[in-house]
Amino acid sequence: MKNGLDDVVATETMLSDVDGVGGILIIRGRSLDELAGVVTYEELLALLLSDALDEKLDADGLRQQIGLARQEVFRTIADAATSLLNLPVTDAVRALTAQFADGDDLATALRLIAAPAVFTPAVIRLKNGQAPVAPDTSLAHAADILHMLHGRSVSPEQAAALDTYLVTVSDHGMNASTFAARVVASTHAGLVSSVLAAFGALKGPLHGGAPGPVLDMLDAIGTPDNAESWLEKALDDGERLMGFGHRIYRVRDPRADALMQALRRLAGGNQGAGRFKLAESVEAAALRILARRKPDRPLKTNVEFYTALLLETLGFPRESFTSVFAMGRVGGWIAHAREQTQHGRLIRPQSLYVGPRPIKAA
Ligand code: ACO
Repeated sequence: MKNGLDDVVATETMLSDVDGVGGILIIRGRSLDELAGVVTYEELLALLLSDALDEKLDADGLRQQIGLARQEVFRTIADAATSLLNLPVTDAVRALTAQFADGDDLATALRLIAAPAVFTPAVIRLKNGQAPVAPDTSLAHAADILHMLHGRSVSPEQAAALDTYLVTVSDHGMNASTFAARVVASTHAGLVSSVLAAFGALKGPLHGGAPGPVLDMLDAIGTPDNAESWLEKALDDGERLMGFGHRIYRVRDPRADALMQALRRLAGGNQGAGRFKLAESVEAAALRILARRKPDRPLKTNVEFYTALLLETLGFPRESFTSVFAMGRVGGWIAHAREQTQHGRLIRPQSLYVGPRPIKAA
């Protein structure tokens, strides 16, 4: 038995490869360095989805199609029950996405790509007592998400930072949410069911739910001088440090660097200030302390640490971070779900029964 399926290879994939020792992420034949901050999310989706959806997709066509899908998805908000819109942001986005009919085609995929991008800003605004802002189909996906969030157009630097984020988190091997998507897809249930399963798996703090708690940690630490003592106490109390450690990486997560660079570009000359300076001190202290306490288990910075800073800088409230993660990862989920349906078998592992057995009659 492999507890947590450690080291189990469950499938072949053409989509992405995570080298946890070399610290290298490859998506569809390109390293993260060649993608993050270089290609747009639409270009990345064309790369990920063309084979998966049996369609010849190009970035310009996708930009238009996703824009129209954002409009279609936005129209559903008017009919949404208030009880759904009042749920916590991630739960509301998941519930609103569940209304779509299942399918395995491009139209379903486009709706699912549009769903977190449209529902997240709308729900955030409704919670703030503001009306949702309709999408602008002339904008690229990342720029329109920020436009729908803030109700005004944002700077090209802000749009580029979100675009880099979406590309950076778009796919990552057999992580928990992608595996959940593949399990459901292996039953041929359809893309909506697969993506909803993945969304549920993403939400937990051991996976995509970590960046909100990273900000809670920074708030609690307050100033760089407090970092060492706060972190030591948290570990003494048996807590985990959010934004550190990974099942696969034994070195720094390459996505952390991609996002740190995006943050630096966004901050311009201001990167030594406030939050960023505190975060750098906390990161350095955490790495020192974890290395001392866990000498046999390298625990390095993961993607969620700088995700928290980047998304906060772009104006997303922390309770929405998991939904923003889903805006990027949904491309990977769809590609994996389709790959599973096209080439895989029903996923059905065994369990080791350790419960009582019936007492046999003498
Ligand atoms: N802080 C303190 N200790 C840690 C941390 C951490 N962040 N991560 C792992 N450890 C310790 C564990 O307590 C354990 O110690 P032990 O052997 O003395 O009991 C040891 O390292 C191994 O931990 P596992 O739970 O076996 O490692 P696993 O591979 O299952 O966990 C995980 C990976 C869940 C990401 C873990 O590192 C963690 O909880 N990190 C904090 C949450 C986080 O940042 N999640 C986002 C991950 S990135 C993503 O999913 C997109």
